[in-house]
Amino acid sequence: MNPLFGLGQNLLLALDPEWAHELAVKALELGLYPRAEGRNDKRLAQRLFGLNFPNPIGVAAGFDKDARVPGALLDAGLGFVEIGTLTPRAQSGNPSPRIFRSARDRAVINRLGFNNEGHVAALARLRDRPVGIIGVNIGANRESPDRIGDYVRGIERLAPVASYFTVNISSPNTPGLRDLQAPDALSALLRRVQQARAALPKAPPLLVKLAPDLADDDLPEIVNVIAASGADGIVVSNTTLARDDLEDRAFAKEVGGLSGRPLFTRSTRMLARVYRLTEGRLPLIGVGGIDSGETALAKIEAGASLIQLYTGLIFEGLGLLTRIKQTLVEAMDRAEVESLAPTVGRRADEWARK
Ligand code: FNR
Repeated sequence: MNPLFGLGQNLLLALDPEWAHELAVKALELGLYPRAEGRNDKRLAQRLFGLNFPNPIGVAAGFDKDARVPGALLDAGLGFVEIGTLTPRAQSGNPSPRIFRSARDRAVINRLGFNNEGHVAALARLRDRPVGIIGVNIGANRESPDRIGDYVRGIERLAPVASYFTVNISSPNTPGLRDLQAPDALSALLRRVQQARAALPKAPPLLVKLAPDLADDDLPEIVNVIAASGADGIVVSNTTLARDDLEDRAFAKEVGGLSGRPLFTRSTRMLARVYRLTEGRLPLIGVGGIDSGETALAKIEAGASLIQLYTGLIFEGLGLLTRIKQTLVEAMDRAEVESLAPTVGRRADEWARK
């Protein structure tokens, strides 16, 4: 890869995190990014919920909230991009500073609070959408009197451009949002969302994104509600409110959702538990703390058919993508298999016990 891109990475890590993010998105908008080298190994491809994924690595929600750069991200070698979280109306989110980075912990804490330009702006950008898988992550406005209605509007408005939807009920930065994970509330939400999908001429698949802070005892019922609703998959997980094993004490005190390396074990364990509960019937997207080929492979072994990156990209840059693909291909070579399928969930029992 061009060494200048490495230089860009170090520069970004020296800047205020929100500025650095804006600069990274600007660079992608301007075409200043490394193009994917060569074609994907065909063994990385999978067909899941009716979509053909060229490789299993996606960009997690929050990186491209307003659908500014999905084409560039796909061009850089990602297998899919999840835009959003989008809310019906534009909102500015919480006061700055609201993103904090700890290089020592390889972690980020954010309390952005769904800053985004709203459905209509994203829809306009996606009118001429690039070819490739673009998932749309939907949420509710902070001051909305009808939160469920906000998700329904997301489905109705954005269906023409969405390859799939993710219902985000797991952000810690919108007060009360996570209450929608309670079985009764979740069941009511998914019923309305599924009614909205049923009325569409062509309904994109529906995924639900969970928080890693759900109690072990609550998980079976939540997973049952999701499966019974007819949802197509589950994303595990969003950021955590826990502050496990952080070295940087001042950083640890910031309010918000923690992502990156310290989230890896917690989110992977929960992924494995969800995999066991669904018995592999629903494809899962594993996200949380992937920052190497090894951690990507571990997510798949814990039960993920697809994976997503965010904080790992902040610290490692797009070179991480090539390393993950290489590790996954080498693992398939070693196991003498022709796809990732036999690897998915191979170590779920082990991970679920951690
Ligand atoms: C996020 N994440 C997130 N998730 C979501 O569903 N909607 C969102 O708008 C956002 N916004 C957001 C902003 C920032 C700055 C970060 C770091 C994260 C959560 C993200 O999609 C992912 O679930 C977690 O970050 C865990 O993955 P990583 O970062 O450890 O790879």
